[in-house]
Amino acid sequence: MIISFANQKGGVGKTTIAINLASALASSEFKVLLVDFDPQSHITVGLDIDPQGKTIYSVLSGEIPIDSAIFETKVENLFVIPSDENLSGFEAEVFEDERKQFYLKDKLTSLQSKYDFIFIDCPPSIGIYTVNALCASDFIIIPVLADFFSLEGFSKFFKAVELIKVSLNPKLEILGIVINMYDKRVRLGKEVEEEFMKYFPGKVFRTRIPKSIKIAEAPSFGLPVILYKPSSPGADAFSSLAEEFLERINQFKNA
Ligand SMILES: Nc1ncnc2c1ncn2[C@@H]1O[C@H](COP(=O)(O)OP(=O)(O)O)[C@@H](O)[C@H]1O
Ligand SMILES: [Mg+2]
Repeated sequence: MIISFANQKGGVGKTTIAINLASALASSEFKVLLVDFDPQSHITVGLDIDPQGKTIYSVLSGEIPIDSAIFETKVENLFVIPSDENLSGFEAEVFEDERKQFYLKDKLTSLQSKYDFIFIDCPPSIGIYTVNALCASDFIIIPVLADFFSLEGFSKFFKAVELIKVSLNPKLEILGIVINMYDKRVRLGKEVEEEFMKYFPGKVFRTRIPKSIKIAEAPSFGLPVILYKPSSPGADAFSSLAEEFLERINQFKNA
């Protein structure tokens, strides 16, 4: 099962939610692989991995086999394929290739049976990276903030995802929208939350990820929040998101 974390907006929590949801699932004994597909390499840095050139870029460019780019992490059952700034060259290199949308899919196919979940962390745009990720995926999770600009750009992103589904990957499904850095005391937040629920019925995860300094600090220790501060509201939120994630996956399996 392959799941992309994508939104064209930056700073909404794609990387944070990918790392922490993956860690919560790994601690429930699911085997999870995180693919850092952002040239900014925040997954790689946030889990304290030194890739030494063994990255998703070197896999895509055919320099090394994918198995040799898989790294262990401090979290048992959680593995990473790291990234570095070389990945930013990928776009130009595949520009004229007619299968340019399917590079990542072609490489991940051989790993599907070895992991319960493969998560792909996308950069903040709907360019060739996110398109590759969505072509490889069964599901997309869309992190959002409950602010005005999140709502404003969202319909456009949603349409782009629908277009990719229709034209390139019919099996792609929207697993859900995760509202991040939520503060129920903020009135605008409640209003935006209600708009998301109204326009995308059934798509918004019940779990809200609170704004938490512990969540923000954890990557500087190379850890997910469930290991950095196991009994904190942030860690609790990701445990509950993991439960809901499994529920939603099962609903699709049984449908
Ligand atoms: N729930 C949260 N509480 C506090 N800080 C958060 C939370 N989610 C994300 N952040 C912080 O906000 C910034 C952007 O998050 P990030 O996951 O990197 O977003 P994206 O990958 O969408 O660009 C990071 O500095 C991150 O630590
Ligand atoms: Mg990111």
